[in-house]
Amino acid sequence: DGNYLVTLVPGDGIGPEVAQAVKGIYSAAKVPITWEEVDVTPEIRDGRSRIPLSAEESIKRNTLALKGPLATPIGKGHVSLNLTLRRTFKLFANVRPCRSIEGYKTPYDNVDTVLIRENTEGEYSGIEHEIVDGVVQSIKLITLEASERVARYAFHHAEQNGRNRVTAVHKANIMKMSDGMFLHACRQVAKDYPKIQYDEDNLDRVCLRIVQDPAPYSDRVMVMPNLYGDILSDMCAGLIGGLGLTPSGNIGKDASIFEAVHGSAPDIAGQDKANPTALLLSSIMMLRHMSLFDKADQIESAIFKTIAAGETTGDLGGKLGTRAFTDKIISRL
Ligand code: NAD
Ligand code: IPM
Ligand code: MN
Repeated sequence: DGNYLVTLVPGDGIGPEVAQAVKGIYSAAKVPITWEEVDVTPEIRDGRSRIPLSAEESIKRNTLALKGPLATPIGKGHVSLNLTLRRTFKLFANVRPCRSIEGYKTPYDNVDTVLIRENTEGEYSGIEHEIVDGVVQSIKLITLEASERVARYAFHHAEQNGRNRVTAVHKANIMKMSDGMFLHACRQVAKDYPKIQYDEDNLDRVCLRIVQDPAPYSDRVMVMPNLYGDILSDMCAGLIGGLGLTPSGNIGKDASIFEAVHGSAPDIAGQDKANPTALLLSSIMMLRHMSLFDKADQIESAIFKTIAAGETTGDLGGKLGTRAFTDKIISRL
C-alpha cells in the first residue's frame, strides 16, 4: 500500500524534542511512513545487558530505524547502548556527510565532504584491562574483513554519489600493523574501482588542511578507522555551524540506523532549544536510502530555505525554539 514501517527510537535528552520535530514535519509532508516507536532501555537477558527484545525485533523486521541520541555513561560497568546497537545489527559503515548550508554564514562556505568510519571495531572493541596497578591496556582491534567491508562501501558510495576520489585517513606511520592493514585493505579494494582515484593521508595532516581550506576535500569520500571518524566528524561539524547540522547513517547488510552525529545535549535538554536539523537531515538520508527522493528533496529544501531566511534556533544565532523552527519548516513544505 506504499506505506513503510520504520522504527523510531526517540532517545535521551533532546532526543524526544528533535524526534517530535521529525514526526510533525513528516506528517505535514504526507511522507508514507508509519513510525513504530520503541524504547531501548537495556534489560538483562541471557545474563547480559541487552536492548529489549521488542526493540530488537522491530528493527530486524523493519530493517530501518531513525534514532535519537542515547546518553552513554562514563566509567566502568557500562557498555554504550549506541555501540550495542551498532554491533547487534552489524552496522559496518557510518556515513557522515558534512556540507555547508547555503545562506548560513560561517568562515567557510565551501565544505562538502563525506566521512565514512568503520563502525564495529578499532578502539571501540571494548577490550580493556588493568595489567597491574596503574597500568591499563586498551586493545585497538582491526580485522582485514571489517577493513575491506568498509573500504568497499566507501568506493561504492563514491561511485553512486559522483565523487571521484577516496582518501584513506590513517596513522600507519605509528600504528604500523593495524592501520597498515587497514590501508592494505583499501588498496586492494581500490583495484576494483579503476575510475575512482585513491590516495592516503595522515589524520593530523587532514585536520590541519581541512580547517585551512576545505575546498580540496569536496570531490571525495574519506574512509577511516572508527575513532578517527568519530573525532574528525565533530571537527567537520564545527566547520559548517556545529552539531545541530550534521547527519549520519549507520549502514548494515540487514538493517540501517540513521541518527544525528550529536549526543543527548543535557545542557539544553527539555528547554525547546535543540536544533532538529541534524536528525531531520539524517531522516532525509534515510528517505534517499529508501528511494523516496521527492519527499527527501521537498523537506530538505524547506529546511535550507528556513535557515537561509535567518529563522533558526539559538545554536545558529537565531531566536526560535525547536517547535517554532519546526513550524517555519512546515510552512515552507
Ligand atoms: P553533545 O553532542 O550531546 O553536546 C555537545 C554540545 O553541542 C553541547 O553544548 C550541546 O548543547 C550542543 N548540541 C548538540 N546537539 C545539539 C542540537 N541538536 N542543537 C543545539 N545544540 C546541540 O555531546 P556531549 O555533551 O559530549 O554528550 C552528551 C551525551 O550524549 C553523552 O552521554 C554522550 O555519550 C552521548 N552521545 C550520544 C551519541 C549518540 O547517541 N549517537 C552521540 C554523541 C554523544
Ligand atoms: C558518535 C558518538 C558515539 C561514538 C558515542 C556516544 C558512543 O560520539 O556517534 O559520534 O563515540 O561513536
Ligand atoms: Mn562522536
